[in-house]
Amino acid sequence: MNVLVTGGAGYIGSHTCVELIETGHTPIVVDNLYNSSAKSLERVKEITGVSVKFYEGDVRDEALLNKIFDENEIGAVIHFAGLKAVGESVAKPLAYYDNNLVSTMVLARVMGNRGCKKIIFSSSATVYSGDNEMPLRENSKTGNCTNPYGWTKYMCEQILRDIAKADPDWSVVLLRYFNPVGAHKSGKIGEHPNGIPNNLMPFISQTAIGKRKQLSVFGNDYDTHDGTGVRDYIHVVDLAKGHVAAVNYMQDNKGESVFNLGTGTGYSVLDMVKAFETANGIPVPYVIAERRPGDLATCYADPTKSREVLGWVAEHDQTDMCRDTWNWQSQNPNGFDD
Ligand code: NAD
Ligand code: WQD
Repeated sequence: MNVLVTGGAGYIGSHTCVELIETGHTPIVVDNLYNSSAKSLERVKEITGVSVKFYEGDVRDEALLNKIFDENEIGAVIHFAGLKAVGESVAKPLAYYDNNLVSTMVLARVMGNRGCKKIIFSSSATVYSGDNEMPLRENSKTGNCTNPYGWTKYMCEQILRDIAKADPDWSVVLLRYFNPVGAHKSGKIGEHPNGIPNNLMPFISQTAIGKRKQLSVFGNDYDTHDGTGVRDYIHVVDLAKGHVAAVNYMQDNKGESVFNLGTGTGYSVLDMVKAFETANGIPVPYVIAERRPGDLATCYADPTKSREVLGWVAEHDQTDMCRDTWNWQSQNPNGFDD
């Protein structure tokens, strides 16, 4: 089936293109390359042997979307395109609401007009309220987001839920990712953050390669087994496979459904540092720093529903995540910039 992948040149999108191709689907990508490089799609071709059809442009551009639907028979859409930096969203709220909400609304409008009513949306564990008990289940409380980025995910979920309610022909799958890390085992595609990484794993790998002097561990006085923050890290290839499972699920299921994509296991910051050092035989110098505002002590998923309904489970372990992150980083010290 032809699957339109918005944001398909990005980190999770490029890995999902590989998994779609390997399961017999045909991804068609639209991306404005705001936070990515078209080289990722060249690498997808090196991995799979398949050249991905690519439209460079903005998902908010209705004329472009109409052209894509004119030129291709689209069976389903996976909507990755969006801005995702939490700190930046606090500084530039309008840019985040504009990009993330308008892209989702324009896309849904064009899809509805064209009778293509199957959409998978990239949501996030960030939509869960901070006062839930762990593990987080799909029916745990949402809202009370701590930043505009989180609110855009919360609001897009609501917009898509309302569309599914208004028209029973729609199939809307909301996938709530936990902490995506790792890279394709080939080392050809991976995460390439702009500037100083906000997220833990890219910071660890850039420290290991000498681009950063040391990792700052944000707080060691949380109520966790070693005092540092605990998260549910999930290998990006498992995440990508979750999208293929959702594409297949949508063939027979209408209405709105929400799934956690996590492993169900939480690791602390220091667990991840030690696992990275052990998996790769490279030291990661670190210092203990102040807590980062807005961080929770612990966040991990209950992935039971994804297993039972989608038939999906994460297969990569912590060592795979650390090895594949380093394989990508060491082969591509400057990401796609070389
Ligand atoms: P990414 O930045 O690598 O990919 C997003 C892609 O969308 C980029 O290639 C960017 O150029 C493109 N894009 C942004 N706005 C666009 C627009 N208006 N039109 C066309 N293209 C546009 O990020 P990612 O990590 O691959 O994340 C993909 C999705 O998953 C995002 O929606 C993100 O919010 C969500 N998500 C990511 C994480 C994470 O930690 N990586 C966690 C939960 C949810
Ligand atoms: C993980 C742990 C930090 C960096 C974010 C978004 C969330 C989702 C995934 C998109 C925490 C600690 C980090 C560092 C550190 N994205 N840390 N030193 O905050 O769980 O989630 O990315 O939807 O919305 O908020 O991920 O990787 O930033 O942090 O000690 O330099 O690592 O305090 O405990 P987070 P993260």
